[in-house]
Amino acid sequence: MDTPFSTLIRTASHEQHTEAESSSFMSDLLGGRLAVDAYARYTEQLWFVYRALEEGAEALSADPVAGPFIQPELFRTEALERDLAHLRGPGWRAGVTALPATEAYAARIAACARDWPAGYVAHHYTRYLGDLSGGQIIRDKAERTWGFARKGDGVRFYVFEGIANPAAFKRAYRELLDGVNADDLEKQRIVDECKRAFDFNGAVFRELSGEFPLSAA
Ligand code: HEM
Repeated sequence: MDTPFSTLIRTASHEQHTEAESSSFMSDLLGGRLAVDAYARYTEQLWFVYRALEEGAEALSADPVAGPFIQPELFRTEALERDLAHLRGPGWRAGVTALPATEAYAARIAACARDWPAGYVAHHYTRYLGDLSGGQIIRDKAERTWGFARKGDGVRFYVFEGIANPAAFKRAYRELLDGVNADDLEKQRIVDECKRAFDFNGAVFRELSGEFPLSAA
């Protein structure tokens, strides 16, 4: 394969990325049209997703394919828990529920972590590289819309304290992708799983829009 794998996976998911950006839920969020409750509900969903990603991570750290991607400075579960305590109060755990689409998404990540490390890489890429990129636009909007302290409680999910230079980190991450320990067929399967990961995100957005149907109003 001549095209670097990082280019391949990015190009293959480009269309779905545009769809995700223009989904009703994201448009409403970025348009400042949602109440903070909708943002909190979204943050809850992320908690389920990142728990699946990060509970599976430790066992994969020595894996020849997924291992190089496991970098603790990316971990988001703790930041999400601080955000949820801020958004929902100290008793947030008692009230948190996964939407059906979130459940399916988290279950797929857990299955990949258990049975197919290369598939896990697809999910890792889809979430963390996105958070390091567009996540910063969402953070800025959330701070302005709901008055969270800059990079403080409520938006800690978007703040990577352990990554001083996100652009350099993303470059290094793309090098990891380019060197992924997989043959061409397996790389194609990773790309397919990445598309599936975008589908899961789209399904979560649709269900969130169902709960907070502003665009339709
Ligand atoms: C409104 C929401 C979003 C905005 C504004 C946004 C914006 C961006 C931007 C500006 C980039 C940087 C592109 C570059 O480096 O050239 C990016 C990259 C990325 N985004 Fe998003 N994004 C959004 C939603 C999402 C969602 C929902 C996902 C998937 C869960 C996602 C996954 C990614 C990935 C994987 C990349 C890295 C692409 C690559 O360079 O390989 N994004 N996004």
